[in-house]
Amino acid sequence: MSPASAPRAGALRPAVIAGTGSFAPERVMTNQDLQAIVDTTDEWIVSRTGMKERRIAGPGTATSDLASEAARRALADAGLAAGDVEMIVVATITPDYPFPNTACVVQDKIGATKAFCMGLEAACSGFVYAVETARNFIAAGAVTNALVIGAEKMSSILDWQDRATCVLFGDGAGAVVLKAAAPGERGILTASLGSDGSLTDLLLVPAGGSRKPATGGTVAAREHFLRMSGKEVFKHAVTNMVRAAQTAIARAGLQVADIDWIIPHQANLRIISAIAERLGMPAEKCIVNVQTYGNTSGASIGLALDEAVRDGRIRKGQKVLFVAFGGGFTWGAMVLEWAKGAEG
Ligand code: UT7
Repeated sequence: MSPASAPRAGALRPAVIAGTGSFAPERVMTNQDLQAIVDTTDEWIVSRTGMKERRIAGPGTATSDLASEAARRALADAGLAAGDVEMIVVATITPDYPFPNTACVVQDKIGATKAFCMGLEAACSGFVYAVETARNFIAAGAVTNALVIGAEKMSSILDWQDRATCVLFGDGAGAVVLKAAAPGERGILTASLGSDGSLTDLLLVPAGGSRKPATGGTVAAREHFLRMSGKEVFKHAVTNMVRAAQTAIARAGLQVADIDWIIPHQANLRIISAIAERLGMPAEKCIVNVQTYGNTSGASIGLALDEAVRDGRIRKGQKVLFVAFGGGFTWGAMVLEWAKGAEG
């Protein structure tokens, strides 16, 4: 390695997840509730998606409110004071405002006055992208800790007249605190991220950006709501998540059998089952909560991670795989050695 490309002293430090937190609004919307809104059935939703209920935030609640509560819980778990947070990344496709970014709003709500704040938009892959972003800031020596949050108020961009999409999504938030690893700790091992911008049209909100600013016409045409070509997205999701998982596992020098837990993006139980099967991973190793939260987009992995850590499934020393896919298209996988709590 030439001196110019050699890492400077103290750089390329590993990062560990030092705390987790999550939050979901109280109001539960069941499949039966949806039957009263659109032409659907509990049987269709359960058999096609595995979803039974989801949480829906009230009109006075914004994404930053969900994010801030998850953040407070993650900070408490990590034993880090809000005032000591150096960096906040919020992954979301349902920001409070087009700008400023939602991380700035969260900063103010939780009192993280020292932090710099950025938003990250990678749809359902947002949490994996955001953790990988923060990990690289830590690796480079730019910060020693970061608060990473995936948070969504998906109900704010759903077309409640479109049964093909409105039954699929829910609101929630998941957060982690990353810290520079102590000697001997391993934490995040590898990641594999990818995108295909040629397939934007398959999953998007058509209006409200600079291409099609809001007008009376865009509102009347319901173009501010999420649109998805479900069948197409399904195929791409399975293929790319499997490939990303295999790449991240190989980069870590591991085999699929070495992975203790896979936390997939919770888009559809059939997608999760297909990924596990193609990877050759037993279903018992999948952390699944799609039945209770639906698809919470960028929040889903953080939410599922927090549940699995707090109920004692994920234990110190175990290998955990995150894998996600979303609009863009974007996808990503990450392999971690869990560094906290009781030994596995
Ligand atoms: O998080 C980002 C990534 N997102 C995803 O990964 C989602 C990927 N896609 C999927 O999960 C699935 O494609 C869906 C769950 C969205 C749909 O399942 P599908 O098996 O692909 O169903 P489909 O879209 O092909 O629809 C089958 C039928 C259609 O009727 P016809 O044309 O066969 O008569 C739909 O009109 O089901 C109908 N349908 C419904 N029926 C009752 C669609 N939505 C509903 C509904 N209730 N809610």
